[in-house]
Amino acid sequence: MTEAVRIKNLVKSFGDLVAVNDVTFEVHAGEVFALLGPNGAGKTTALKVLMGLLDADSGSAEVYGTDSSADPVGVKKLVGYVPEERNLYESLTPRELFEFIGSIRELPSDMVSRRVSEMAKALDFTQYYDSMIVTLSHGNKQKILLMAALMHTPKLLILDEPFSGLDVLTTRIMKDIVKIHTEQGGAVLLSTHIMEVAEGLCHRVGIIDEGKLIASGSLEELRVQAEQEGATLEKLFLKLTEQEDEVREGVDALRGALAE
Ligand SMILES: Nc1ncnc2c1ncn2[C@@H]1O[C@H](COP(=O)(O)OP(=O)(O)OP(=O)(O)O)[C@@H](O)[C@H]1O
Ligand SMILES: [Mg+2]
Repeated sequence: MTEAVRIKNLVKSFGDLVAVNDVTFEVHAGEVFALLGPNGAGKTTALKVLMGLLDADSGSAEVYGTDSSADPVGVKKLVGYVPEERNLYESLTPRELFEFIGSIRELPSDMVSRRVSEMAKALDFTQYYDSMIVTLSHGNKQKILLMAALMHTPKLLILDEPFSGLDVLTTRIMKDIVKIHTEQGGAVLLSTHIMEVAEGLCHRVGIIDEGKLIASGSLEELRVQAEQEGATLEKLFLKLTEQEDEVREGVDALRGALAE
């Protein structure tokens, strides 16, 4: 079976800094896979290489058998991507932006308006359809990105920190979208810092630290790898990334500072 994502021995540097260092993992169809890792670990860089937005130094990245560097346009047709940075055309309205994106993707305009208006209803967004994007809140901009990503019914969703700054209801809807997408046979690759989300939503996770994939598998498999029976994902994450001592030292220092 063709894997939704196949990343093999991927290396990407910026000057002397090796941001992604020999990373290999797959995401199966019907699966939610989360990339976890401290700030600067290389998650966004790996996702950008997979999207064909950055060229790798070596190794390969494929979406449903389509190579990200040889056929980046082909990859973009298969993927709905919510990037980490929210650079939107702020002087447009959402309606204008969706029409624009639909025309670039060569989608029939009646299909775009029907799909987007259904999603806008589900996301409680209809009232913002004709407001200038610059005037909208962070969460509402995030909804625009999500609707744009889902517009062309992609097989794979790549979501780079999709839950940051979302309210309770929108987080819940976002999780449901991820679940429905995979139940219908699609795949999801996301990055997140929210361990509860990764634990509750994802079938498997990969932990990246300083560019290297240091662990991957289901929660149970990580527990075996870290020899931590019954541990939460947060505990496993801190142990595997060797940050447990830093947490303790930080808390002790804070306690001292606050007592003064
Ligand atoms: N365009 C760039 N030029 C130079 N260095 C870069 C560039 N993009 C990323 N980096 C560096 O590569 C490393 C990995 O960054 P990346 O954005 O992939 O991390 P991340 O895991 O997504 O982190 P975060 O959790 O903070 O989003 C970091 O050290 C970052 O400073
Ligand atoms: Mg990032």
